[in-house]
Order: sequence, then structure tokens, then C-alpha cells
Amino acid sequence: MRIGNIILDGPAVAAPMAGVSDRAFRELCRGYGAAMTYGEMVSCKGLLYHDRKSKELLAFGEGERPIALQLFGDDPKLMGEAAAMVMEHRPELLDINMGCPAPKIALNGCGSALMKNPELCGRIVEAVVKASNVPVTVKIRKGWDEETVTAVEVAKICEQAGAAAITVHGRTRAQMYAPPADLDIIRQVKAAVKVPVIGNGDIDTPADAARMLEETGCDGVMVGRGALGAPWVFREINAWLLHETVVPYPSVTERMMVMLKQGKLACTYKGERVAMREMRKHAGWYMRGLHGAPAFRAKAGTLTEYADLERLAAEVIQANTL
Ligand SMILES: Cc1cc2nc3c(=O)[nH]c(=O)nc-3n(C[C@H](O)[C@H](O)[C@H](O)COP(=O)(O)O)c2cc1C
Repeated sequence: MRIGNIILDGPAVAAPMAGVSDRAFRELCRGYGAAMTYGEMVSCKGLLYHDRKSKELLAFGEGERPIALQLFGDDPKLMGEAAAMVMEHRPELLDINMGCPAPKIALNGCGSALMKNPELCGRIVEAVVKASNVPVTVKIRKGWDEETVTAVEVAKICEQAGAAAITVHGRTRAQMYAPPADLDIIRQVKAAVKVPVIGNGDIDTPADAARMLEETGCDGVMVGRGALGAPWVFREINAWLLHETVVPYPSVTERMMVMLKQGKLACTYKGERVAMREMRKHAGWYMRGLHGAPAFRAKAGTLTEYADLERLAAEVIQANTL
């Protein structure tokens, strides 16, 4: 897949996930073969007001490249100004969030609320493209609700305004994350634009990725929740799509080692206190399907030091190996 002048080395990218896809997680995903990673969404107003947290979200390491940084906002002028600030971080791509359903974003006219106003989407893309020296992409939803299915219209307008690729999450805002993603709307967008289209929604396995590519004709896939506590999913997807090979699911020991690696990286980037608080949910995801998972998850909820995480990993390995 090629987006503007950026050539990706695989078919699957790691989704932006606020509060989740931080440096440590992105580094692991890239290490396991994600063709690109996305930063957590950043408020354009936050950046322009020099909010410390917003600026911190733009930090990334060289090992994560290629990376897309993502902005949200609803004012073309402010989005352009914020885009110019993002350029100082030299990402490969700048992505615009047109899909976030969270009330504090969407009810303020940003994220998925933009799907109700295709013309505004075009003006935002135009302003951001003008202020950027890297390809600008958009991440959209199927629409706002079943009465306002605008993905095709928004995609066409964004393409005309200069978007270099379009990611489509096949759900409306009203559907949040629940019913199965609508692959047909992704197919329709792909048929309507010339720029690459990335299909998104419910890709947890190589078979899901293959189905998305086959049924929609999209150029690449984006994996979000399927990579939580399972960044190796990119290795599995690549092996299947590129070599028709099934790689064995990682052993419990490997899974715990990956969890520890993520914890260690997070400590480096955020300090132990914040890292371990945030690792509580990640550790819970790493326990998925394991013997004794509910009790281990409860323990994960009390992590405060890296040593706690090491103890937890050792207990999980012991309880799950003969
Ligand atoms: C916890 C969480 C945070 C998310 N944050 C963002 C975000 O910052 N920007 C964005 O465009 N999408 C965000 N999303 C949406 C995902 O990128 C993706 O579109 C959605 O989860 C559907 O893909 P999946 O079924 O593979 O998870 C988020 C999703 C989750 C679950």
C-alpha cells in the first residue's frame, strides 16, 4: 500500500486508540509487523493552547515509524494551525479524526459529528493539507446514524480536498462499537475514490483481515481492539496474507514476556507510577482466555510497581503450564 509518497511494508496498520495506543503499545505492534502505527487523537485546541498533555501525546520514537499523528477538531482554521505544529514532530502522515463517537468529542461538533457535515469535512481537509508537508489522511465512520449514512459523500469530498487515503470504520456513530461492522459501506467507499482505502472494524484474526480485503476490495486493514493484549496479531495477519502461513499462537510464557516488555517500555516513557496504573487494563487484556483469568485480572487491577507485574506474570505462567 502506498499513501502519497509513503510506502507501507505490509497490509495491516495499528489503529489509533486514545488511552491505549501509546508509545509502548505502538512499538510492540510495529515490532510484530504492523505496517504503520497511529498516535492517540490530539485536540487541535489543546495544542494551540499549549496544553502539556496534548503535546506529550505527539511524542514517538524512531522505532515506531512510519507513524501517523491524529488531530481532532471542527474549525478548519484552527485545524490548519494545529497541523503546522504537528509538523514539527515529523510524522510520516497526519490523520484527521472524523469518527470518534465519545460524547465529549462528538457533542462538541468534532470526531464523528463531522459525518453530518460533509462540506465542513472538505474545508478541514483543505486547511490541514495546506498547512502540512506530509500526506493528510482521514478516518471516517459509516455515518452519524442510519438516517445519515454519509461515508461515500464524505470520502469523495475529502479526496477532492486533498486527502491521500481514507480509513473507514463500518459503523455509524449511533452504533458506537457494538453491531458487526458493515463491510458493504467500505466497499462502496473503495468504489467511489481513487486514493487508498483502509478497512476497519472487527478484525481480530487473519481470517477477518482476509475477509475485509476480499469483500470490500480495500487496500489495507486497520486493527484496533484485536491487538489489545495481543500485538502479535500483526505477525499472524502478515503470515497469512503475505505467505498463506499459519503461525502458532504464542505460548503463555511468550504472552507474559510481551506483557512485561510493554510494561518495561511504558515505565521508560511514562515513569513507573503512571505506567503501572495504565498497565492494569493492558495486563487484563493479556489474560484473555487463560486459566484463572478473572482472579489474575483482579490482581492486575492493583498493579503499582513493575515488580508487581513480574510477580503476576510468574503466577500466570505457573498456573497455565503443566
Ligand atoms: C479505547 C479506544 C480508543 C479509541 N481511540 C480512537 C482515537 O483516538 N482515534 C480514532 O480515530 N479512533 C479511535 N478509536 C477507534 C478505533 O481506531 C477503531 O476505529 C475501532 O475500535 C474499530 O476497530 P476495531 O473493531 O478493530 O477495534 C478508539 C477505539 C477504542 C476501543
